[in-house]
Amino acid sequence: MKSAFNLQDRSRIYIGSLDELLPGLLPDARTVAVVDGTFARLHGPLPVSGDAIEVSLTERTKTLASVERLHRELLARGADRATFLLVAGGGVVTDTAGFAAATYMRGIRFGYVATTLLGQVDAAIGGKNGVNVDGYKNMAGTFAQPEFVVCDPGLLASLPPREFRSGLAELVKAAIIADAGLFARLEGVDFETLRRDSDLLADAIAAAVRVKVDIVGRDERETGERRKLNLGHTLAHAIEKCSSAMNHGEAVAVGTALMARAAVRAGLLGAGDCDRIAALLGRLGFDLRPPVPLERLLEEVAHDKKRLGDVLHIVLPAGIGDCTVRPMSVAGFEGLVRG
Ligand code: GLY
Repeated sequence: MKSAFNLQDRSRIYIGSLDELLPGLLPDARTVAVVDGTFARLHGPLPVSGDAIEVSLTERTKTLASVERLHRELLARGADRATFLLVAGGGVVTDTAGFAAATYMRGIRFGYVATTLLGQVDAAIGGKNGVNVDGYKNMAGTFAQPEFVVCDPGLLASLPPREFRSGLAELVKAAIIADAGLFARLEGVDFETLRRDSDLLADAIAAAVRVKVDIVGRDERETGERRKLNLGHTLAHAIEKCSSAMNHGEAVAVGTALMARAAVRAGLLGAGDCDRIAALLGRLGFDLRPPVPLERLLEEVAHDKKRLGDVLHIVLPAGIGDCTVRPMSVAGFEGLVRG
């Protein structure tokens, strides 16, 4: 095992080999696995006995209907309150199956194997789960901590480059929020090196997990500091809603770069640090131009009251490794982004 983190004594996050870690983590209880179909095809069955439910989920099918389907599958297999649910997949799968575990029979124990970089550095960590409702992201869900999360960097070698890059956006986000050292290390490597050097990758994943565990440990329910983890996400969600041209990480990269520019205008961030953010994201292969005009994105933010409410909590970088959360109206946000 390379490293382990403890989130409020309720959730342990391990970075290391799945085969070595998993047998020692599973409780002495009946286990049912929910496994992403692509992962199962690439890596074979999980090293656990018991039933496995194979799923193929996307943002479009990350819905209450999919949660209900999982509940039915559990019921059909006779799962009861003592059953442990092991979920293996990327963020869409852990979000959906985590919600199913948190609500089946009012909540059963569960753990995750995070199979994508995005899952390992963000989605699987911190106890948020949920599904989309009418295209609004994560409108129904709970806070419920997985008992463990296994992040095996070795699993990422089979990720398509574009999906790997998507996770890098969340890695860079974590560095901007709270780890200047990680940011500097990322500046020193290129995309292919990061993909292939498993020690380097394990170290970067561990650093991002540390940032998230520290923040979530202080503010699990996102009443304050956890909002920092949403850096770049207000515009990213608008991009994802307006266009299918970008995946989540690609949209987060655009949103982060735009927030860095806005932070310079707000007098919070030096132009040099803003340039470093854009240069790092650019070097990792992100296209930082929004796929639709900025005005269209701002319209989307203005119409997204259902998800966002009247007050937006906008995260602005205040340096590399430091950021601040500013409450503002939609009009205030528009002014900040337009400059
Ligand atoms: N992905 C942001 C959070 O977990 O709070």
